[in-house]
Amino acid sequence: REELSFIMIKPDGVQRGLISDIIARFERKGYKLVGIKVLVPTQALAAKHYAEHDGKPFFPKLVNFLSSGPVVAMVWEGKSVVKYGRTMIGATNPLASSPGTIRGDYGIDTGRNIIHGSDSVEALAAKHYAEHDGKPFFPKLVNF
Ligand code: CMP
Repeated sequence: REELSFIMIKPDGVQRGLISDIIARFERKGYKLVGIKVLVPTQALAAKHYAEHDGKPFFPKLVNFLSSGPVVAMVWEGKSVVKYGRTMIGATNPLASSPGTIRGDYGIDTGRNIIHGSDSVEALAAKHYAEHDGKPFFPKLVNF
């Protein structure tokens, strides 16, 4: 297997009809879609997804927003997909994102920045195995 990244189109991206454009960008780059699911995240799942931001002032809004409607959760595969996927996505603040990136082309609001991309392979693995965090085999599991 090549590197994997978790990429999610958030409720604003879905509502604005950007699913096909976003998928096309990743496909044309040469990445392979290996998993896709449409779901409305529960508040609990949204909180787990954003656990690293728990305690920050924007956390409650973030969790409410993510669970406000359907999202498209995807796993993309390919060389450097974590890092380059984030290059394609752009900066957290769409107004700091270059034109040509997803957020640079379609957004103006940090809280509604269309899409989420995993920031590391380890983060993806750690999130996937969150229920085992703290167990002795956890570090090995995540670094596998
Ligand atoms: P994302 O890349 O999904 O990761 C965390 C999200 O929190 C981020 O995109 C933004 O949508 C959201 N967010 C809202 N307010 C802020 C803020 N002040 N700083 C960083 N992220 C924020």
